[in-house]
Amino acid sequence: MMKSANAILAGLTLLGLASWVQAGALAADAETTFKFYCAQCHGLGGKGDGPNVTKNFPVSPRNFTNAKEMNKLSDADIKNVVLDGGPAASKSPMMPPWGKTLTGPQVDGLVKHLRKLCKCKGKQG
Ligand code: HEC
Repeated sequence: MMKSANAILAGLTLLGLASWVQAGALAADAETTFKFYCAQCHGLGGKGDGPNVTKNFPVSPRNFTNAKEMNKLSDADIKNVVLDGGPAASKSPMMPPWGKTLTGPQVDGLVKHLRKLCKCKGKQG
């Protein structure tokens, strides 16, 4: 009796550990995704200063560390621009659509990553 209760407890602890590890992996994954797909324009630290951005780049990629600007966007707004590209939000086509490249969970991870960069919660609703 005691033994099986312990086994169950051990099992639960393992499960908890597994989901904790998974959450950590997801966060790390969002950062990797960002560095791979977004940093060439938005910069590794999200400041809009990636190596792609030259003097003749017509618009500056959003600086994600600018909380004032980032607070004008809700999480849904960000998701929408990332999935459908700049023009979907009346922004520049220099911001490409990623809906065919990235999965929903990857985009959700990116939204969280951008919120970490701006240290802001964004427009609510
Ligand atoms: C080829 C360069 C380029 C790449 C790559 C790129 N972006 Fe952009 N992004 C831009 C530009 C330029 C803008 C600004 C468009 C404007 O203001 O008209 C922008 C705007 C945005 C905005 C909208 C900000 C706002 O104020 O509405 C978000 C959100 C965004 N990018 C997220 C991402 C994410 C996430 C990735 C990676 C999956 C990414 N971008 C990759 C160039 C890029």
